[in-house]
Amino acid sequence: MTTLPTPMLDVAGLTVRFGGIHALTEADFLIPPGTVTALIGPNGAGKTTMLNAITGMVPVAHGAIRLDGAELTGLPTHERAACGVVRTFQNLEVFTSLSVLENVMAGRHTHTRYPVFASLLRTPGFRRAEAACRARALECLDFVGLADVADTPAGDLPYGSQRLLEMARSLAADPKLLLLDEPAAGLNSKETARLGDVITAIRDRLGVTVGLVEHDMDLVMGVSDFVTVLNFGHPLASGTPDEVQANPEVVRAYLGEDEEG
Ligand SMILES: Nc1ncnc2c1ncn2[C@@H]1O[C@H](COP(=O)(O)OP(=O)(O)OP(=O)(O)O)[C@@H](O)[C@H]1O
Ligand SMILES: [Mg+2]
Repeated sequence: MTTLPTPMLDVAGLTVRFGGIHALTEADFLIPPGTVTALIGPNGAGKTTMLNAITGMVPVAHGAIRLDGAELTGLPTHERAACGVVRTFQNLEVFTSLSVLENVMAGRHTHTRYPVFASLLRTPGFRRAEAACRARALECLDFVGLADVADTPAGDLPYGSQRLLEMARSLAADPKLLLLDEPAAGLNSKETARLGDVITAIRDRLGVTVGLVEHDMDLVMGVSDFVTVLNFGHPLASGTPDEVQANPEVVRAYLGEDEEG
């Protein structure tokens, strides 16, 4: 197995339970900086639970979650976001009645805190902050190729573009670590290819580290530097895409025990 470089995200021995359900048991997940690292596994394996635990959205029974050596466990979600941990959700979370640009500007709310009176009076400071927010949002839209539909209501965009809009909105939050939960769900092959290009550009041009939960194996194997496989809440294997695909246990977990018979 390839030895992983020092991780940016270091999840060690993580256990998460929902009543009697053990969603994660002693699970490790490492994401080295400057990589796309995928987390894959069958339905119910605990992938979304892992992202929920990293972002502070579910309580953790045991284990540690560190970002660049600093402990995140116990911090509220907004403080983790302020550390640069940003995510998207498995179900599309676009505000359909807002414009595409307004959706992305909403992603910067953590960076533009202005008192209500300042926004009501439209003070010069507020207007400057709003203009900067708009400019940054447009840059993010341009990055995913949606700048020309900035003023369109988000609900009018095709589904694949709404997924890209979600990516632009998460980029607007200035992530250091961007966690994507099944970004290719519901996309056709052309849209998936475009999404793959955006994911690698996020790594290569923006230098943002990406954690990718995804079922589309062509996408996973095409864009990832490393892959971790979860099965029933346990880590089954980690390595390069080639190593993981050649691992007999991984093949069994995906294809079932009957495969060899
Ligand atoms: N809030 C919750 N309350 C109770 N059980 C939960 C909760 N969230 C997840 N689970 C259970 O934990 C297990 C792992 O679920 P999780 O959503 O993390 O899987 P997943 O790998 O993301 O699956 P999928 O590929 O279908 O999205 C499942 O058995 C699920 O039913
Ligand atoms: Mg899931």
